[in-house]
Amino acid sequence: MTPEQLNELAIEAMGHAYAPYSGYKVGAALLCADGTVYQGCNIENASFTPTVCAERSAFFKAIYDGHRDFAAISVCGGKDGVISGSFPPCGVCRQVMREFCDDDFKVYLIGDGTYETVTLTQLLPHSFRADTHMNG
Ligand code: THU
Repeated sequence: MTPEQLNELAIEAMGHAYAPYSGYKVGAALLCADGTVYQGCNIENASFTPTVCAERSAFFKAIYDGHRDFAAISVCGGKDGVISGSFPPCGVCRQVMREFCDDDFKVYLIGDGTYETVTLTQLLPHSFRADTHMNG
């Protein structure tokens, strides 16, 4: 699975978004270490706080199915599903990634016809994680 192929699956996932309130459609494609891919989209709610991001919906599907090792995630988003620039993961999604992923977990930020690769440690430096901060 190339980054470009994963990006295509994120773009496809964006089409599944339920975003009647913000209008921002977001898609994610999560690559597991065994090659399985899980797609996710944002799912909004009239009460706002129950809204879940595309990244977390992909992670939660994969985790439910028993996956614990992850290699990369592609993310894209934009108003009405039109990509005009990168749509980086929010802080809550970064912390969910931190729970399951290593420092070098790759995040492909899809832009307008291109993409940028960043690592989890770049997105979330000095992060809190159980295996280093809850070992006492
Ligand atoms: N959103 C995501 O799906 N992922 C992120 O990391 C940032 C924000 C969604 C939530 C909401 O439905 C919309 O984008 C606007 O915030």
